[in-house]
Amino acid sequence: MQTAACIFDLDGVIVDTARYHFLAWKRLTDQLGIHFTIEDNERLKGVSRMASLEIILEIGNVKMNEHKKLEYATLKNEWYVEYISKMTPAEILPGSIPFINELRKADIRTAIGSASKNTPMILERVGIRELFDAVSDGNIISKAKPDPEVFLKAAEMVHVSPDACVVFEDAVAGVQAALNAKMKCIGIGSPGILTKAHFVVPGLYEMNLAKLKTLENYT
Ligand code: BG6
Ligand code: MG
Repeated sequence: MQTAACIFDLDGVIVDTARYHFLAWKRLTDQLGIHFTIEDNERLKGVSRMASLEIILEIGNVKMNEHKKLEYATLKNEWYVEYISKMTPAEILPGSIPFINELRKADIRTAIGSASKNTPMILERVGIRELFDAVSDGNIISKAKPDPEVFLKAAEMVHVSPDACVVFEDAVAGVQAALNAKMKCIGIGSPGILTKAHFVVPGLYEMNLAKLKTLENYT
C-alpha cells in the first residue's frame, strides 16, 4: 500500500515542548509537596492533561476530590500556556520542515494527531499551521491515546484510508494508538523504548521520502 498521508504527533516530534510540560508540572508538584523527577515525566508523554495529573497524584500518593483535580490541572495549564506563549520558530525540531515539505511536494497529505488542547496555539506561535492539511487534536477527541481516535479523525479529515497512513510518534501510548488505528508507525526516539513501532529514528532529521517508501513493504 502506497503512503497517501503522514500524521504527526506534535509534542516531542515537531516541537520540543516536553520540557515546558515538565516545568509546569514541577511547579505544581513543588506546591503540593510531591517529589517529581524528569524520569517520572517520561510517563506523561502522550498522556492527556487529566490522566497526567492522576499519574502524578499516584506517584505522590496524594488523594484529592474531582473539583480540586480540575483546579490544579487548570493551574498547571495556565503556567504551561505562559511558557508556550513565548515559543519561537527556533523550537521546531531539526529536520521537521524539510521533511514535511518533501512530502507535500510528493502529493502526500500531512496532518497533526496530538492529544494537546494547546495544539492551535503552538502551531500558530512557531508559524507552521500551513504545513498541515488537517489538525486533529485534544479539542476534538474524547478518547486519549492509546485509543486510535485522534489518528482515525486525522485520516478522515484528509480523506485517506488508515492503511495508507503513516504515523510519527515519540510516546509509547501514541505508537500503540497508531497500531490500534491499523496504521504504520515510525517511532521518534529510542528503539529500546518504542519497541512496537515499525521502525525508529532519533528525529525527523533522519527521515526522507526514500526511507518512508521502504516502509511500504513492511507488514
Ligand atoms: C501530549 C503531551 O501531546 O499532550 C502530554 O505529550 C500532554 O504531555 C498532552 O499532557 C495534553 O496536552 P495539553 O496541552 O492539552 O495539556
Ligand atoms: Mg509526543
